[in-house]
Amino acid sequence: MTPLISSLAAWRELRSSPAWAGKSVGFVPTMGALHGGHRSLLERARAENERVVLSIFVNPTQFSDPVDLANYPRTLEADVALAGDRVDAVLAPPPEEFYVDGYRYRVTETEFSRRWEGAHRPGHFDGVLTIVLKLLNAVQPARAYFGEKDWQQLQLVRGMVEALFVPVQVVACPTVREPDGLAMSSRNRRLSDLGRKHAAEFPRALRTARDAAAASAYLRVRGFEVDYVEDYQGVRLGAVRIDGVRLIDNVRL
Ligand code: PAF
Repeated sequence: MTPLISSLAAWRELRSSPAWAGKSVGFVPTMGALHGGHRSLLERARAENERVVLSIFVNPTQFSDPVDLANYPRTLEADVALAGDRVDAVLAPPPEEFYVDGYRYRVTETEFSRRWEGAHRPGHFDGVLTIVLKLLNAVQPARAYFGEKDWQQLQLVRGMVEALFVPVQVVACPTVREPDGLAMSSRNRRLSDLGRKHAAEFPRALRTARDAAAASAYLRVRGFEVDYVEDYQGVRLGAVRIDGVRLIDNVRL
C-alpha cells in the first residue's frame, strides 16, 4: 500500500532509505481534490522516473479569500484511491509542518506575478512560490510536473527555479479537458448542473473570439463575471466567475 506521510520527519526518513536513495524522483504537487488532469501528471511522472511522490496540501498562504480557503474541497481518501499505484508516496502534512516560521520568510516575484491572477488575488503567487520552493527542497525531485492550465503559475515556477538555482526540471503538461472543452479543475465540482453546462462557453469563447475584448464582451453577455481576458505572447488567458465559482483557463492562439 502507498505510504501516506503526514510529517516531514517521516518523509525525510523514507527519502533517505535504500529504496529511494539514488533513484530519480518525479514530483506532482497538488492541493488535492484530484481529477483527470492530475492523473495525467502522475502518469507522466510515473513514465519518466523511478519513484513518484504526490503532495496533497491545501496551502493557506495562496488564498486571499478565507471563504475560498474554507470551501476548497478536501477529499484525501478519494485522492489516495485515484493516485493508486501511480505513486510511491503521498505527502500530506498539516500546515504547521510547512509554516514553522509563521510565513515570515516568503518568495516574492515583483513583476510578472502582479498581472492577471496576481492582480485579482493579491499575495497569491507569494504563497504559491513559497510553498513550491519548500516542497521542492523537502522532496528533492529530479522532475516536478505542473499543468499548463495554470499558465501564469507555470511561468513563475520556472522563473523561480532558474533565479534561485533550484536543481529540478520543471515539466509542463497539457491541460486536460472534459468532452465539452471545460478544463478539468478541482473547482468544477462546486458548479451546479446548470452552471456546469454554462461553464463550457468559457473555453469556447477563448478559442473562437476574434480577440480578447470580443471574448470578454461575449462572456459578459452570457452572464459570466469577467476578471480578465488578455492575449499575451500567443496565449489567450482568462479568468471568470460563474455560479459563484472562479474558473481560469488559457488557449494558444
Ligand atoms: O496548482 C496547484 O495546485 C497549487 O498552486 C500548487 C502548485 C500545488 C501549490 O500549492
